[in-house]
Amino acid sequence: MSAPTEGLVRAGDAGAADGFVRAGDLRAADLAPGELRAVTLADGERLCIGNHAGELFAVHDVCPHAEFPLSEGALYANGELECCFHGAKFDCRSGAVLRGPAEDPVATWEVRVMDGAVWVRPADTTADGERERA
Ligand code: FES
Repeated sequence: MSAPTEGLVRAGDAGAADGFVRAGDLRAADLAPGELRAVTLADGERLCIGNHAGELFAVHDVCPHAEFPLSEGALYANGELECCFHGAKFDCRSGAVLRGPAEDPVATWEVRVMDGAVWVRPADTTADGERERA
């Protein structure tokens, strides 16, 4: 198993200051390439966090088609994330729809690894740590 690469933030940096929060108690070493994990954040947000070829990604763990958990789907070597309920596929990095029946993309989160712990923030977070959409 290859461990996901560390993010740009060094030990001691305050991740929460720029909008990052801990992804539960998930550690980068817990996710082997190709694995998916369901994580619930402190605010109740549900994420599907996965390891694509050694890089972690995070998306909303709710399929935009009929709300099935994407963490129960499949992650392919080409980065396609498949919902196993009706077969929609998404790009695990951008959240873009690659195959229906889903019509809308899935929201994505940025991922950082600090001291082995996984931190996330919504991809639409501004430089001051605020979300662009409320
Ligand atoms: S719920 Fe995901 S494709 Fe239908």
